[in-house]
Amino acid sequence: PLTTTRELFAKALKGKYAIGAFNVNNMELVQAIVEACEEEKAPLILQISKGARQYANPVYLKKLIEAAVSLSNIPIAVHLDHGDSFELCKQCIDEGFTSVMIDASYEPFDKNVEITRKVVEYAHKHNCVVEAELGHLVGVQFDEGEEGGGYSKSGHYTDPDEAVKFVKLTGCDSLAVAIGNSHGAYKFKGDQRLDLERLKAIKKALMDAGLGDYPLVLHGASSVPQYLVDEINKYGGKLQDARGVPEADIEVARRLGCAKVNIDTDLRLALTAGIRKVLWEKPSEIDPRKYLGPARAMVKELVRHKVRNVLCCAGH
Ligand code: G3H
Ligand code: 13P
Ligand code: NA
Ligand code: ZN
Repeated sequence: PLTTTRELFAKALKGKYAIGAFNVNNMELVQAIVEACEEEKAPLILQISKGARQYANPVYLKKLIEAAVSLSNIPIAVHLDHGDSFELCKQCIDEGFTSVMIDASYEPFDKNVEITRKVVEYAHKHNCVVEAELGHLVGVQFDEGEEGGGYSKSGHYTDPDEAVKFVKLTGCDSLAVAIGNSHGAYKFKGDQRLDLERLKAIKKALMDAGLGDYPLVLHGASSVPQYLVDEINKYGGKLQDARGVPEADIEVARRLGCAKVNIDTDLRLALTAGIRKVLWEKPSEIDPRKYLGPARAMVKELVRHKVRNVLCCAGH
């Protein structure tokens, strides 16, 4: 059934597991993710970015998800990923999303608060929950800050005390944190890791402020599995020095109270590896089902592994 994330997060935090939030753009991704989670009895968040809406058309995505919900028995939340304005969030809430992210983290603190509060007010009137973000992910564009705009190399890590202030002022239901995480397949140079001590400090500050076991969200949680990078390169691709978050770090983040873990890049890698392999080995193949089918199967196995072994939400 279609669900909100409030109860999902509460149960996840109690059980020290995390809900996987997987990005979808097309039918094969929706099918792969939902089938894996259905077979693993894992609660699920399907998330849609602004770019996904532009690519697939919101109506197609809505109908695909309706099909998935009607054909499965697991709880599924439908979430807007990185909503960048009140208007976009409102549109999605009006369309029936059960959760939206307002990401105004590119704005100064006060403006971020103002926009987020406006979204929370509207969302809560319409039975929808809100994820917000404080701090800059590494490599994400921003306008202000110590580097005077442009791209932040170091990111701007979430400050624990600011996080408390932000949650209290906005009433947001979950908070995406910046702790050295970033999007995409090139996350770290050298042995840079997540600042898990900071994550612990943010969690503790929220707890001490009376906000309870508050749900944090980890963006950029793809691990960029080496076997997928190798497959892609073996079959004509060119990914050099691709690097993700070690799965062991995701497991620590989960135990520290990240209730939602965002994964997109790993899905892209699995789908691409599957397509490349078939087209490389059978250059005469022109039936999309013959390469999208195996690619879909690879995404499904990847999601199965995540929910079973990394997020540990299988069976819940
Ligand atoms: O935030 C990044 C997600 O992976 C979505 O990516 O904006 O290219 O759809 P996208
Ligand atoms: P990855 O690029 O690591 O998959 O992160 C996805 C994400 O955070 C979507 O919001
Ligand atoms: Na999101
Ligand atoms: Zn993200």
